[in-house]
Amino acid sequence: MTGLDPASLRPRLPSPLQEVEDERWARRGIRLFLKRDDLIHPDLVGNKWRKLAPNLAAAAGRPILTFGGAYSNHLRATAAAGRLLGLPTVGVVRGEELADRPLNPSLARCVADGMRLHFVDRPTYRRKAEPPVLGTILRAAGAEDAYVVPEGGSNALAVRGCRALGEELRGRADVVATACGTGGTFAGLAAGLGAGQRALGIPVLKGGFLTAEIQALQKAAFGARQGDWTLDDRFHFGGYARTAPELDTFAEDFEKRHGLAVERLYVAKLLYGLVTLVEEGTFPAGTRVAAVVTGAPFTG
Ligand SMILES: Cc1ncc(COP(=O)(O)O)c(C=O)c1O
Repeated sequence: MTGLDPASLRPRLPSPLQEVEDERWARRGIRLFLKRDDLIHPDLVGNKWRKLAPNLAAAAGRPILTFGGAYSNHLRATAAAGRLLGLPTVGVVRGEELADRPLNPSLARCVADGMRLHFVDRPTYRRKAEPPVLGTILRAAGAEDAYVVPEGGSNALAVRGCRALGEELRGRADVVATACGTGGTFAGLAAGLGAGQRALGIPVLKGGFLTAEIQALQKAAFGARQGDWTLDDRFHFGGYARTAPELDTFAEDFEKRHGLAVERLYVAKLLYGLVTLVEEGTFPAGTRVAAVVTGAPFTG
């Protein structure tokens, strides 16, 4: 086996599906399951494994270049994959001003895992998908030969990789819910579910643009819209990384009840949204709801 084969990292697949007892659900006759993608791999946690593995294989040993903000889970996972597989990695980080500051723990972890960081100003970062801008970034980063993975890791290969998440849940839940950033994980999940199953996405970013993006991702990955899915845009708490005391209290309480370390940027909003929907009477009694645990908290 070559060191570049992601399967050599021994992912725990299919990830476990655990039923949890929670009175808020039980009193309405609804069953809650956690799809523990956070247990797939200690470094390529959750959706990171599903999205990165096909790209690591496609890179075929070329350096991997990807993009992220200063606390990006995706940058850390890519750096870890590079260390584990012996692949050079380059992280293009949003915010030129960060270059002159001490690295935060997340970026320091990237560097410790061998990732070379290249900081770009915000206007350039916003235009990074435009081919001439990308070309300039690659030249400036000294990485013209790199295999480029988009921000959040959501390209067609990643979306096809996430279809396995849906396939693993066929026949085991009626509604499968996940938090959405770029929507790549959800796009694949929805495509992989079976007849009669429904996917519910909880966007953590504000803006209401995600339905079109998910459709575009499904078109790129599968040629057309796939699966039965909807989004509920009410639980972003003001946008990415925004929070509220109510959300923190909820997440701490969920941790105490169920012994699950709740990742705050995505998973907390998903679980909060689901409990609200249960309390609103959205799901009929007897519904089996699976919440995908797409990540774990970063412990620094
Ligand atoms: C823990 C966690 N959950 C969910 C997501 C959202 O994934 P996507 O960008 O595919 O919607 C991310 C971001 O990649 C994440 O880090």
